[in-house]
Amino acid sequence: MSRVLITSAIPYINGIKHLGNLIGSQLPADLYARYQRARGSEVLFLCATDEHGTPAELAAAKAGKPVADYCAEMWQVQKDLSDGFRLSFDQFGRSSSPQNHALTQHFAGRLAEAGLIEERSETQVYSPADGRFLPDRYIEGTCPNCGYDRARGDQCENCTKQLDPTDLIDPRSAVSGATDLQERETKHLYLTQSKMRDALRDWIDAKTDWPILTTSIAKKWLDDGDGLQDRGITRDLNWGVPVKKGDADWPGMEGKVFYVWFDAPIEYIASAKEWTDAQGRPDADWQRWWRTEHGADDVRYVQFMGKDNVPFHTLSFPVTIMGANATGEDWKLVDYIKSFNYLNYDGGQFSTSQGRGVFMDQALSLLPADYWRWYLLRNAPENGDSEFTWETFQAASNRDLADVLGNFVSRVTKFCRSKFGEAVPEGGAYGEAEAAALADLDARIEAYAAHMDAIEIRKAAAELRAIWVVGNEYLQAAAPWSVIKEDEARAAAIIRFSLNLVRLYGILSAPFIPDAADAILKAMRTDAAWPKSATDVSAALPAGHEFDVPDNLFAKITDDQRDEWAAKFSGVRD
Ligand code: 2FM
Ligand code: ZN
Repeated sequence: MSRVLITSAIPYINGIKHLGNLIGSQLPADLYARYQRARGSEVLFLCATDEHGTPAELAAAKAGKPVADYCAEMWQVQKDLSDGFRLSFDQFGRSSSPQNHALTQHFAGRLAEAGLIEERSETQVYSPADGRFLPDRYIEGTCPNCGYDRARGDQCENCTKQLDPTDLIDPRSAVSGATDLQERETKHLYLTQSKMRDALRDWIDAKTDWPILTTSIAKKWLDDGDGLQDRGITRDLNWGVPVKKGDADWPGMEGKVFYVWFDAPIEYIASAKEWTDAQGRPDADWQRWWRTEHGADDVRYVQFMGKDNVPFHTLSFPVTIMGANATGEDWKLVDYIKSFNYLNYDGGQFSTSQGRGVFMDQALSLLPADYWRWYLLRNAPENGDSEFTWETFQAASNRDLADVLGNFVSRVTKFCRSKFGEAVPEGGAYGEAEAAALADLDARIEAYAAHMDAIEIRKAAAELRAIWVVGNEYLQAAAPWSVIKEDEARAAAIIRFSLNLVRLYGILSAPFIPDAADAILKAMRTDAAWPKSATDVSAALPAGHEFDVPDNLFAKITDDQRDEWAAKFSGVRD
């Protein structure tokens, strides 16, 4: 059995995520996890909240709460929403967990031993008005690389360049807006990732199957003279993982914490330990996913993330892993990185800070998860940015889910109930029309699986829709409602075949729309084993098998609803 470790970029704790965040990592990761499980792989699917750093502190301050309380509350909110969207994580951890504290300190110790950490005195931006240093997001300004005027001290959102606060042009305090900033001396630890340039290049060059988006960003920062600058991995903040070398104190670093981007990816590992700890299982059970000499040598590790996260996952985090491994450890490096462009909202950007767009809680208050999952996944921003509009959302829901899949399931089951009762009808035999539909379906199922294996999400969605269409077109041409007047046995065969397609659609659709798929399979009173081919399962439901007519699977989105929602979400959220 193949084993697949899947991680989604861990969302910042600061507030509810919008649909652009969701389609940028968690939702596609869930699609892949569900698909891999359906194909019989052993899957460990991990996510968590990213709780340290300036975003968390700034948000807690804004909410007027102690940062630990704020994080605990927001973790629950995010957990409930991920359940609402049916994200099937095995563990939804917290980067503030004791497990992550210990592992982060462990890795820092190993990196020091590997000679990859240097202590440096450096000038940092200090704000007399705020009475504090301004690391990372506490400072904003113009990006020296692309000119974007809202770049943050740690990274430019626009061009993805990793920055230091002192790089910004016209810097200002994100707390107070103060521009009378000073530079002051302070001591920090640096990860000397530039020493690993050749190792990183060899590693990335060997990844010839990675998406172009991933490798192009990785190579850009690798080859760019200062893309692989040594990174400060400590901060003058209170909230975070205290700087230690394994269990030991780190002289001179008292009162400092690790930089959020140092501990966040380590949480991928820590969440696996959180998972086994929560169940009282031994460390060996998570190490068999993460340590090659402890059983993870045959694990395929796939990461999902937005493009702005790529530099950290192709350069910084691999340096952490490779550095620890240089001291004799055996941590698993990622095998495949699927990255995404941005989803835009009605002609602009989704924005958490500006409250622009549709947020996960709002989406679920309008419609169940499947509608959003289908729309977002079929429009996943894989090859370029994509655009959320209410018109295309309405069209995708109505035309794909209601008119094609929902309509097929409803027509077949209701027709059967009215003419034959709620059991698969007997009589007649499959003929040419069924053979033709099966040939078409067999080819399409193979293509669908190939796209899912390759994590080509839009192509997979298009193929799945085409698979639904085959059933509709077959039914339309076979016209059992006319045939039954002359030849009841033939009508029975058509309906028997169609009911088996309903079952097949339940199985194949589950990774995209798990609730509807569940409803279909429950109604058909059947199991969910992934089929070798359509032909193979064309008589899985035999004559006499009882079923229930499912409730309508999908309601149509009316023009009034569409307009109302477009108006409601045209502004910004409070
Ligand atoms: O961009 C983000 O939302 C980050 N919180 C992602 C972190 S992914 C990882 F490194 F853990
Ligand atoms: Zn920039």
